[in-house]
Amino acid sequence: MNARMSRAIAIIGGTGPAGTGLALRWARAGETIIIGSRDAARAQKTAETIRSRIGADAQVSGMENPAACAASDLLVLTVPFEGQAALLKQLKPAIRPGSVVIDATVPLAASVGGRASRTLGVWQGSAAQQTAELVPKGISVAAAFQNVSADVLSGDEDLDCDVIVCSDDPNATQVAMELAAKIAGVRAIDGGKLENARIVEQIAALLIGLNMRHKGHGGIRITGLPDNAFMR
Ligand SMILES: NC(=O)c1ccc[n+]([C@@H]2O[C@H](COP(=O)([O-])OP(=O)(O)OC[C@H]3O[C@@H](n4cnc5c(N)ncnc54)[C@H](OP(=O)(O)O)[C@@H]3O)[C@@H](O)[C@H]2O)c1
Repeated sequence: MNARMSRAIAIIGGTGPAGTGLALRWARAGETIIIGSRDAARAQKTAETIRSRIGADAQVSGMENPAACAASDLLVLTVPFEGQAALLKQLKPAIRPGSVVIDATVPLAASVGGRASRTLGVWQGSAAQQTAELVPKGISVAAAFQNVSADVLSGDEDLDCDVIVCSDDPNATQVAMELAAKIAGVRAIDGGKLENARIVEQIAALLIGLNMRHKGHGGIRITGLPDNAFMR
C-alpha cells in the first residue's frame, strides 16, 4: 500500500537538514508540504529552495510552526531534543484535534554538550514518549525516521534503508508507514509499541558513531522477515 496522502504534511523544524531532506523526498513524491519554523521568513526560504530543486509545480510552502500546526493534522517533528519539550508546550494550543504527530527526534547527548554518538536518558523512556506526554489528549504519536541520514535524504539517489515505526495507535502507525514508503528505496516496518522508540533512538546514536568512525552515511536494513512485513 502506498496511497497518496490526502492532506498536507507539516514539518515542524523543517528548516534543518532532517526536516528539509524529508520534505524534499515527499515533495518529489507529489505530496503537499508545509515547512514550519520559529521564523516565517526562514521557512519560506527553505520552501523556495526545495521548489527550486524539484520544479515550480512542487507544493511546498513555509510558515511559522503554530501556523503550520493549524494548517494540517499531519505533523512531523524534526527539532533537536533540547528544544522539543518547550516547543511542544508552545504549540499545544495550535495542534488540531485528531492530529497525528510523527516524531523523528533523537535525544542525543550533544543536546547538553555531550557526544552525538550517545543518548540521554529520558524520564518518559524516549523522546517520542516525551512528545506523547506533551501533546493534547487524543493526539496520536508515532516515532519514525530517526535512523535515516539527512545527508542521504538531501541527495538524489534512492535510499537503501528501512524505517521502523513505533506507536500505540494503529492509525498513526499506518500513516507513518505510508509516509516512509513514499521515499524511494525505503521499506517501512511496524516496530510495535511507542515504548520501542527508546531502542530505535539508541540505534540512531550508534549509527552516528559508525558514520563518524567509517566516514559514511549508514542506515539499517532488517533481514530474515517475510516480504509482507514491509510496506514499500
Ligand atoms: N540530521 C540527521 O541526519 C537526522 C536524522 C534523523 C533524525 N534526526 C533528528 O531530527 C531532529 C532534527 O535534526 P536536524 O539535524 O535537522 O536538527 P537541527 O538542524 O539542529 O534543527 C532542526 C530545526 O529545528 C529548529 N530548532 C533548533 N533549535 C530549536 C529550539 N531550541 N526550539 C525549537 N526549534 C528549534 C530550527 O529551525 P528554526 O530555527 O527555523 O525554527 C532547526 O532548523 C533531531 O532531533 C535529530 O536528532 C536527525
